[in-house]
Amino acid sequence: MKPVKVGLLGLGTVGSGTLNVLTRNAEEIARRAGREIRISHAAAKHYDPTGLLGLDQVEVCDDAFAVVENPEVDIVVELIGGYSPARELVLKAIENGKHVVTANKALIAIHGNEIFAAAREKGVTVAFEAAVAGGIPIIKALREGLSANRIEWVAGIINGTGNFILTEMLAGRDFDDVLAEAQALGYAEADPTFDVEGIDAAHKLTIIASIAFGIPLQFDRTYTEGISKIESQDVSYAGELGYRIKHLGITKRTDAGIELRVHPTLIPERRLIANVDGVMNAVLVKGDAVGPTLYYGAGAGSEPTASAVVADIVDIARALTCDPENRVPHLAFQPDEMADLPILDMEQVETAYYLRMQVEDQPGVMARIATVLADAGISIEAIKQKEPEQGEGRLPLVMLTHRVLEKQMNSAIAEIEALASVNGQVTRIRVEPLAG
Ligand code: HSE
Repeated sequence: MKPVKVGLLGLGTVGSGTLNVLTRNAEEIARRAGREIRISHAAAKHYDPTGLLGLDQVEVCDDAFAVVENPEVDIVVELIGGYSPARELVLKAIENGKHVVTANKALIAIHGNEIFAAAREKGVTVAFEAAVAGGIPIIKALREGLSANRIEWVAGIINGTGNFILTEMLAGRDFDDVLAEAQALGYAEADPTFDVEGIDAAHKLTIIASIAFGIPLQFDRTYTEGISKIESQDVSYAGELGYRIKHLGITKRTDAGIELRVHPTLIPERRLIANVDGVMNAVLVKGDAVGPTLYYGAGAGSEPTASAVVADIVDIARALTCDPENRVPHLAFQPDEMADLPILDMEQVETAYYLRMQVEDQPGVMARIATVLADAGISIEAIKQKEPEQGEGRLPLVMLTHRVLEKQMNSAIAEIEALASVNGQVTRIRVEPLAG
């Protein structure tokens, strides 16, 4: 059988990993795919040839559109990132009848509905395993391995840079210093605020929710909060209460609709996912038949991400002779069977809370706060009152509450902040038991 020819767009962190993995494991991969897979063309404006394997077999140019237009290329692998020109390149590749593999979560989360519709029209595949959780095959797990299940919820640590920063901060390192290291290691996005403010995780969660529940991609309905406001005192108070703070993407099916939210979360420290550190990602999926399942691995980095890219290329090579109608649909569900489930506003979400506030060291303060919470129907699970610093008239008060609607908690927090004996803003971090 003749080799499958791949046109690689981008020779950066993931592009160079893809070239190296495909070259190093060429024989093993050919046996799996049933034919040789060859990177015949590549486009890169700037790249460092040091350490790149098999580059002498590749025709490299600096014009990505030339690769997309090249009739010899069967599969275009988009590893440039960003929205534009990635969108135009992918749509042009589809128009030219080429299959596409991409690691670009921003592109799929924002333009996926348009791209998949174009791909269906042309009978080509767009594969994006590397877009979510780096090397973990979570897309394949949801699309294929768990297709018997009604998925109940998914919760994941899906940004390696953010988890790396949180882990190192726990060890006492400075935020900016750790972020600079994550950038040097090739983990961070071109704009690292995407990692720190939760946008990258929201892109990935948008994709996960579509595949888990068979709904269109709806990035603009995702509630997004990053890690930049987490303070080291919250990390240590959470620890004293038996919890770890992790930045989670959570999507859940409820009777009212779909929860779609990214925010720092307290998780009981005995859960496996609470102990996932560094650049590692983990995704916990609860299916009605299988129960809870956990997927763990490197969420970013050159070869871990390349592992997912190459797996998609192998899948396409295997399916090249299949009837396009019979391929696994892009978002796992048949396109005309997509559900019209509403995405819930954050105020409609119910969760437990960790609250921290600075209060005057006076009698009756605790009672006033407890009254506000009781009047809002919020029940307190635990309270910790810390000692005031020497000469300080104020002290930190930390609470865990039972589950309540976010709307009720918002009003209660506003009332607490208005109390004369409470100083400044209340810090709120959501708490999830993540029990199977
Ligand atoms: N910046 C992303 C992360 C890269 O840190 O997870 C992988 O998607």
